[in-house]
Amino acid sequence: MQKNIVDTAKQAMQRAIEHELDLKSLFPLSATSSATFHIADFGCSIGPTTFMSVQNIIEAVNHNNNQASTTKLPLEFQVSFNDQTNNDFNTLFRSLPAHRHDNYFAAGVPGSFYGRLFPTSSLHLGSISSSLHWISRVPGELTAAGRRDSIQCTGLDEDVARAYSGQFTRDMEAFFDARAEELVSGGLLAISALCLPAGAVLAQTGLGMIFDLLGACLVDLAELVCQTFTVFFMDELQTFTLTYYIMILSNPNGFNLIH
Ligand SMILES: C[S@@+](CC[C@H](N)C(=O)[O-])C[C@H]1O[C@@H](n2cnc3c(N)ncnc32)[C@H](O)[C@@H]1O
Repeated sequence: MQKNIVDTAKQAMQRAIEHELDLKSLFPLSATSSATFHIADFGCSIGPTTFMSVQNIIEAVNHNNNQASTTKLPLEFQVSFNDQTNNDFNTLFRSLPAHRHDNYFAAGVPGSFYGRLFPTSSLHLGSISSSLHWISRVPGELTAAGRRDSIQCTGLDEDVARAYSGQFTRDMEAFFDARAEELVSGGLLAISALCLPAGAVLAQTGLGMIFDLLGACLVDLAELVCQTFTVFFMDELQTFTLTYYIMILSNPNGFNLIH
């Protein structure tokens, strides 16, 4: 599914880079000396989708550079792969594309994308794909609201939904605040994510049905284990919560929506 999202977003990304990214203003003094174009992929995991996404960006930036009417910039690419500190960066580094060009330099950047990860005005293009649905924490209000059945979207309480939506809003503010500091003026931020159109019911989508199925399996498994081994962890089960939120696009103006 993640590869499909990257493939589907490819054309929109190419269009944005072609029309919105002005390399000459980003590198006004670099006609002859090297120009380091800094790309960050947020929530990269261990590959291979992140490499495809970065490759799409590099190809589009190179294309943009080749189309320039004036002298081509001597571009080099600094690619920062970001994920949480417990990500398996060793596997990521071992599977870096073997035949990447010698102007493509890779580095890992550990930490949460809900905070600052890069120096001020140091990024030319940030990309995040299939990762923003992971909110930063279980919403605090859930304790008061009660967490019953929260893995199952069909039985979701309104107050649980509100708590998740509140946490997602706070996280998005933190995400955009951090990127606003890190991106250079004229840089781009590409976001690819699963969204629900306004009015759609998650439980009636394929993903919603998978979550319902997972929830039901988890409950069955817990009941079976309780009966077999007389252990009591149904309370723990009731408080188990996924920090996963599918955003709803109620105002798509300004977004590049791909159906
Ligand atoms: C579903 S994977 C997507 C990986 C890759 N971008 C792709 O398209 O295949 C989501 C990744 O986001 C990472 N992630 C979740 N929350 C994060 C956070 N707050 N900061 C950094 N990475 C995060 C997870 O560790 C996971 O590797």
